[in-house]
Order: sequence, then C-alpha cells, then structure tokens
Amino acid sequence: MTIFAKSELTPGTPKLVMVEGTPVCVAMIDGEVFAIADTCTHSEASLSEGELNGSLIECWLHGAEFDMRTGEAVTPPATAPARKFHVHVDGEDVTISKI
Ligand code: FES
Repeated sequence: MTIFAKSELTPGTPKLVMVEGTPVCVAMIDGEVFAIADTCTHSEASLSEGELNGSLIECWLHGAEFDMRTGEAVTPPATAPARKFHVHVDGEDVTISKI
C-alpha cells in the first residue's frame, strides 16, 4: 500500500508511485483518482511518461492507449490490459493498493 497527498496530483498529468515494489501510474480524471500498472503491456515503457488524453493514457514508445478507469488496452499495438490498482481517497490522503 502507498499513501500520498491528493495535492501531489495535477489533473491531466500522470504520476508514478511504487506499490510494494510495483510501479503504478496514477491520474486524476474529472476529480476522480485512478491507478493502473505503469509498465506498458506491449513492452517495457513507463506509461506515466506518456500523455493523458481524457481517461486514456498513451504509451510514449509505440502509441498504445490504455483506459485509466479500467486498464483496458484500447489502441494497438498493446492488446493485454494493464493491471488495475485499488484507489481509496480519504480527505487529502490517497491510498493505492493491490487488488
Ligand atoms: S511499449 Fe508501449 S506501445 Fe510499445
């Protein structure tokens, strides 16, 4: 489990956090916080270094897009979904944990 302040999240900008040794990409979308595994399922690129368009995060390496809300791979070349992480927001505290 990883806890950080909600104020560390900038809408439209993904953030990388470590959850029990696993890199996780976190983003605030329409005021709601979502988290998926940071490593692109196509290869080894970091999704948090990519661009966020609405709820879609685009991998900077080959352009695959994942839906931050579900982890679903919506644009090739990635086909496997990114693992989703549990998000709990309590006031200013955001907790990310494995599901
Ligand atoms: S590594 Fe992400 S699309 Fe290829």
